[in-house]
Formats: sequence, structure tokens, C-alpha cells
Amino acid sequence: MSDLYRKRFLGKVVVVTGAARGQGAAEADALTREGARVIATDVRPQGDCRRLDVASETDWAELAAELKEAYGQVHGLVNNAGITWRARLGDVQVKDFDRVHAVNVTGPLLGIQYLAPLMPPGSSIVNVGSIAALTAHYPVAYTASKWALRGLSRVSALELGPRGIRVNSIHPGFIETEMAASGGPVFREANVRETPLGRTGTVGEVASLVTFLLSDESSFITGTEIPIDGGLTAHGGVKSLSDTLREQPS
Ligand code: NAI
Repeated sequence: MSDLYRKRFLGKVVVVTGAARGQGAAEADALTREGARVIATDVRPQGDCRRLDVASETDWAELAAELKEAYGQVHGLVNNAGITWRARLGDVQVKDFDRVHAVNVTGPLLGIQYLAPLMPPGSSIVNVGSIAALTAHYPVAYTASKWALRGLSRVSALELGPRGIRVNSIHPGFIETEMAASGGPVFREANVRETPLGRTGTVGEVASLVTFLLSDESSFITGTEIPIDGGLTAHGGVKSLSDTLREQPS
């Protein structure tokens, strides 16, 4: 449907974290096109972004006070900001483990704590996890943080449901962004090999899911964990087995 006829977010105020680039930028654009008043935030702001470090309680307190003053209400929050750290189990340093948790888990917790009080019934929160939240992925700090985010999402759905606020988490596979590119070409190829659809995903595809979950079209959906990964997590690691037998029938 043309954007001209699709304005699901007219009159709605939505905060997106990590919106200077990648998935967050695409989500902010899609929401703006659909009529939302988007507060795009990032620790390294560019363009129309407002500065907000998700790990800083002071930053969230200031943002919440400003939004209360300016709009009175907030209808949506996308906890998208995240960082990765690819050290493995034997090598990861506590300071890096803690730093990843501060951004990937404490950040969304603070966002929910400070913005949920401004949310009327019908509001929606989306937490951006990863396939690393559904599997034993190799970067241990990142994986543990994204599993923790799943827990936070479920508790939030439980606690905020009685107020009519929905909370869902989404779990992207390899999406073409700078973060994914930092894994290098071998990482990309291995992801494509494990993905039944045989390709990587785009920021636009993730933005479509996020806008759906923020919109009233998903009004009875809360507490869910939705993979958006071309089928990667669905096969539980046996794609290579299936592919091998297809190529070399026994
Ligand atoms: P990206 O690295 O391209 O963009 C992330 C944005 O978050 C950047 O603009 C960065 O400045 C911002 N950011 C980092 N730390 C921040 C902080 N403390 N406070 C505020 N903003 C901060 O990453 P991408 O790929 O767009 O990732 C978005 C989300 O999707 C992340 O939560 C990531 O873990 C998740 N994800 C990404 C996948 C991928 O393949 N690209 C796969 C699975 C999950």
C-alpha cells in the first residue's frame, strides 16, 4: 500500500534508540513516513538525531522530562541500540562483558522504566534482540546480554499488560548493517549458508516488522519473541546435515 494512504502513526510519539544508522535509522524513517512524531536518538547522533546514551540514567531522565513537557505522552519505544563484542568464552574480559550488558540490557530497562509511565493504554514497546538470544552464539557477552533482554521483555509484558502496554522482542538474523559487516566476509558467508532463504536480510524488512508491532494491527500480540532471520533459527542447526544429504544421498 502506498505511504500516502498508510498513516498508522498519526498523532503518535515514538522513541527509537540507536537511530543514527542501520536498523534504527530505517525504523525511524518508516515511522516518520507513516505519520509518527519520531524522537530518533543515538549516542553518536547524526542529522536529526538527539543525543542519548541508553546506558545513562541521566540521559533517560532528561529525555522523559522533555517528552512529558512537550507531548504529555509517549506511544511507542524501540529499544534498538546495541553493541557487539566478539571475544569468546575463554578470552572475554569482565569489563567488556559488563559494558555490553550496560548497553544491551540496562539500556532497554532504563528506557522502559522512564518512558512507560508516560504511555497510555494501547502503547507498544519493541526490544531488538538477535538470533544470539535464541541460540548458543559464539560472542559470549553479546549472546548472554541478548538472552537477558528476552527475560526483560517477558517480565515487561507481564508487568505492563494490565496497563494496556504491549512488549515484544524481535530477533534478527544477519541484517546488512555496519555491525554485521564488522564480522567480516567469512561470518557473512557462514550466515547465508545456515539460512534457508539463502540470503541476508535488509533494514527495511526489520522496519516492517517493528512498525507492525508498534501499530494497532498487532493489538493482541504481547510477550512474543519473533525471529526475523530467513529461517536460520528454525532448523536448530541441522541445515548442514540436510544440505549434505541432499548433495550426497546415502
Ligand atoms: P549498528 O551498529 O549499525 O547501529 C547501532 C546504532 O546504535 C549505532 O548508530 C550506534 O551509535 C548506536 N549505539 C551504540 N551504543 C549506543 C548507546 N550506548 N546508546 C545509544 N545508541 C547507541 O547496528 P544494527 O545492525 O543497526 O543493530 C541494531 C540492533 O539490532 C542492535 O541491538 C543489534 O544488536 C541488533 N542486531 C543486529 C543484527 C545485524 O545483523 N545487523 C543481527 C541481530 C541483532
